[in-house]
Amino acid sequence: MATWSGFHRLDANERLRLVASHARLTAQEAALLQAPSALPHELAARFIENAVGSFPLPLGFAVGFLVDGVERVVPMAVEESSVVAAASHGAKLARAGGGFTTTSMDPVTIAQVELRGLRDPAAAARRLRRRFAQWRHDLDEAIPSMVARGGGVRRIEARPVAGNRLVLHVHVDTRDAMGANVANTVAERLGPVAAEAAGARLGLRILSNLATARVATASCRVPVEAVGGKEVARGIAEADAFAHADAYRAATHNKGVMNGIDPVALATGNDWRALEAGAHAYAARTGRYRALTKWTVRAGELHGRLELPVPVGTVGGVTRLHPVARACLKVLGDPDAVTLSRVMASVGLAQNLAALRALATEGIQRGHMALHAHNVALQAGLQGKDAEAVARQMAAEGHVSGQRARALALEFKKSARGDLAPTRKA
Ligand code: HMG
Repeated sequence: MATWSGFHRLDANERLRLVASHARLTAQEAALLQAPSALPHELAARFIENAVGSFPLPLGFAVGFLVDGVERVVPMAVEESSVVAAASHGAKLARAGGGFTTTSMDPVTIAQVELRGLRDPAAAARRLRRRFAQWRHDLDEAIPSMVARGGGVRRIEARPVAGNRLVLHVHVDTRDAMGANVANTVAERLGPVAAEAAGARLGLRILSNLATARVATASCRVPVEAVGGKEVARGIAEADAFAHADAYRAATHNKGVMNGIDPVALATGNDWRALEAGAHAYAARTGRYRALTKWTVRAGELHGRLELPVPVGTVGGVTRLHPVARACLKVLGDPDAVTLSRVMASVGLAQNLAALRALATEGIQRGHMALHAHNVALQAGLQGKDAEAVARQMAAEGHVSGQRARALALEFKKSARGDLAPTRKA
């Protein structure tokens, strides 16, 4: 399947067959992706406390992603209709211009050590800086396996913070791990030593989720014809400008970006709360909350760029323990952490492109509600084929509501043929 076009029209078994053959999954791995409860209780009960079971979410695959010239099939675990469709739609639009190009920083996590009660934090920072080289060396000795894997402490910085505080930032390259545990170990090791050297009270020792040393970017250039012409492209850029001008709009805009990123985090066993915290803090880093993307129209092309911290891992945490996450990583091509962060940034940008294109043209409801119509029919008490027929009718009418679902159900019952009346406007 060269571009994966039409993937959504296949049935679930056929989709799985294509995904399995693309990723060379074993029959057992493929079966895991379809199993309703693929997480054994013994594992669930080790992952969290007070476990009584597992919480299943739909798992789908967004397709058509060309990221740095490589075809990626993207696993997404998510409950919301139209998210997977929109990701694939955005990927298809970007593909018309060659797909996504990405960048990423090294996988560096920042660990914070808070030193309190300093009369002159700036002077304390100057004093402590003389010790940083020795501390880096000592801290590396505390994390030998990370150093053996090519990671380790890269640098230490000191930042005076309001309230007579000095905060040390230890930059730890955690390679393919998300790095929270290693960073916390480093912070706890450095804390007492630094407090004594500074003559300070020791405060908190913990990683920062504002992961500014772990930023990824994704960019695309789409010919304006591919998005529906110059006016549509301009509309997308104007929608983006709105999200740079207004925090209320920016929050929704960035939620749309995270619609793409969080489901990949879930499917690969990554910490989506850390991603959310980092993304929104990064969006406010200038002191004003704004869009994480930038869309412009230049020389007949729509240019898009997304920049945000993507602190994810492909080892550690539950990424390799959760059987479904392991299979999902294989579908993604078993990427290292940096490559995964680049793919996730591309999914965020694709998601945003599809949402802005809908918003700049027909509005979000036609595409979104058509796919959500089945849920509405179920909520209205319909089942099986009735729910399907009512959902199809509502989507065709462009009128999706519980009230309409109930009215159509009545018509459906009255129909002599046991079928619905032909499509018409409500
Ligand atoms: P359409 O206009 O009906 O497009 O899109 P199409 O039929 O021409 O299909 C284009 C491509 O979309 C397809 O290519 C598929 O890749 C994909 P093909 O395979 O045909 O060559 N696609 C689908 N994939 C899976 N299942 C489907 C399906 N249909 C199309 N059923 C679509 C329909 C929903 C994709 C479009 O209207 C869209 O992208 N809308 C945006 C929806 C969205 O953003 N949903 C997220 C929830 S709303 C939200 O929370 C975010 C928001 O608030 C963010 C913001 O404000 O910025 C909006």
